[in-house]
Amino acid sequence: MMCEQRLELVLPHAALRDEFRAVVAEYRAEGESVDRSLEPVLDDFDEYLRQIAVFRQGQRVPRGYVPQTTYWSVLDGTTIVGLGRIRHELSPALFYEGGHIGYTIRPSFRRKGFGTRQCALLFEKALTDHGLRKVLITCNEENTASRRIIEANGGVYESTVISRHSRKPVRRYWVRLDTA
Ligand SMILES: CC(C)(COP(=O)(O)OP(=O)(O)OC[C@H]1O[C@@H](n2cnc3c(N)ncnc32)[C@H](O)[C@@H]1OP(=O)(O)O)[C@@H](O)C(=O)NCCC(=O)NCCS
Repeated sequence: MMCEQRLELVLPHAALRDEFRAVVAEYRAEGESVDRSLEPVLDDFDEYLRQIAVFRQGQRVPRGYVPQTTYWSVLDGTTIVGLGRIRHELSPALFYEGGHIGYTIRPSFRRKGFGTRQCALLFEKALTDHGLRKVLITCNEENTASRRIIEANGGVYESTVISRHSRKPVRRYWVRLDTA
């Protein structure tokens, strides 16, 4: 009998410290970062946890940032397969192109459906834990995988804008979370 592996979103925690270290190394080997905004502290796990907590609690958040919660996607309680972020509100910049939700899947776990499942779990959390009834989610126009993930999870296309950072087109979608 086929049995789907258990995937859950958890707050980053010290029991998976070594696992997280392996994830950081895997991203770097691919020339990527598991979390670009926290790259300077990824080698200092305690500081990484501290900074995540600061953002989650919304205290001393740097100017221009909003409170956000970071989750790890953990498979069967042991393997980190991705990371997602829920911003608790939209700043003008997030409304323009960043959206409420950000995510990444660990390179060796891509193209197995985890991105689609992780996005669904992030939407659930956004409603149940953060009270967001409607979220904005965006992707670069050229990011086919992300576009498919958003559309498979009920994203309703609103518009395309030109990124103020990359100057490339970014697709903006809204998702209603309180319809079930
Ligand atoms: C985008 C990303 C999250 C996709 O994760 P994933 O686990 O590979 O996604 P899935 O396996 O659920 O695939 C989703 C869909 O995209 C397709 N897909 C996945 N990778 C693809 C690729 N490189 N090129 C084209 N299509 C791709 C899959 O076939 C699937 O299509 P389907 O639903 O029609 O079958 C992952 O590639 C990633 O972390 N990229 C770097 C960070 C990033 O781009 N984050 C999103 C920012 S908006």
